Amino acid sequence: MQMGLRLTATGSCLPPKVVTNDDLAQIVDTSDEWIVKRTGIRTRHYCETETHLDLAAAAARQALERAGIDPARLGACLVTTVAADQVTPSCACMLQKVLGLPEDTVCFDLNAACAGFPYGLRVLQGLLTAEKPYGLLVSCEVLSRLMDFTDRSTCVLFGDGAGAVVVEAAPDAPDLCARLGSRGDNQVLYIDGAGQPGPSHIHMEGQPVFKFAVDIMPKCGQAVLDAAGLTWDQVDLVVMHQANERIIDHIARKLSLPPEKIYKNVSRYGNMSSACIPVALNELYEAGRLTPGTKVLCVGFGGGLTWGGCLIEMGGTHESYEETQ
Ligand code: UT7
Repeated sequence: MQMGLRLTATGSCLPPKVVTNDDLAQIVDTSDEWIVKRTGIRTRHYCETETHLDLAAAAARQALERAGIDPARLGACLVTTVAADQVTPSCACMLQKVLGLPEDTVCFDLNAACAGFPYGLRVLQGLLTAEKPYGLLVSCEVLSRLMDFTDRSTCVLFGDGAGAVVVEAAPDAPDLCARLGSRGDNQVLYIDGAGQPGPSHIHMEGQPVFKFAVDIMPKCGQAVLDAAGLTWDQVDLVVMHQANERIIDHIARKLSLPPEKIYKNVSRYGNMSSACIPVALNELYEAGRLTPGTKVLCVGFGGGLTWGGCLIEMGGTHESYEETQ
């Protein structure tokens, strides 16, 4: 029997260096006015000396400490990323080393671009067992080193950061009702790999990706809700991939969702690819907005073109929640 999943704890790590729109206007032909009007982004964080693994480990430690679990009961440690320090060993294997996780913890990286977080949760749901019911999922991106700082249409959009969650699988936990898909597209959003000449940069045609996002995210969210037998009114929070505030606002308007149900932090961090959703979940947790039973609909989209959505419920009792605050 497949078990459901509950959210046990969250964590995050943002590198301290903050880059403003005015800072970017010093190196590329852009302006604070253009960036804010077209994207809602005001600042983003960039790594300086920090590595991808440093961010991932800090976010993971915070989530594991709050979860207070025995690492021997961790069935899997997954990292979603497009920007790890190395292709192999995976960031997840390096996390296993720095966190001292046992050898029978399943560790690997997963690339579903910006939709990585719902993919990671869905994979965890299939991997976890009654003996080892906890899963660690870290979504970590250092996109500043994949940016072409001569391309104003992409370099203003992205930032660095990591978000982590610990989840628990249990027979009485709700199914994620995850809905995932992809479209086999390598034209509108891609990052070159080892097989290509020249530096590895993010390439994007903004308008087709924008159109894809406003079409697929409501459909994906609706498919998750249909599978769960719920309506938009019955979920407490909707956390969408934070690529552009206009995309989120457009979808909220289309679905008549009240602003208090939608979480947005793109103005402070820009697009951190797969890290956006778990960083938002961590902010909600720290603000006391994820209490036992809170239902969050998470929906992402990204290069591939991929999309993914799922419903995750906060676990724990009110007492255990207060202890971790
Ligand atoms: O996680 C990955 C998912 N990515 C996304 O979801 C991104 C989706 N797309 C978008 O968010 C938007 O398409 C962008 C923010 C990327 C671009 O906004 P837009 O409103 O679609 O602008 P545009 O590409 O149509 O460009 C309009 C104008 C152009 O100038 P002309 O041709 O009208 O003279 C661009 O050259 O804005 C110009 N432009 C800029 N101007 C100042 C493009 N980037 C900049 C810039 N600063 N940074």
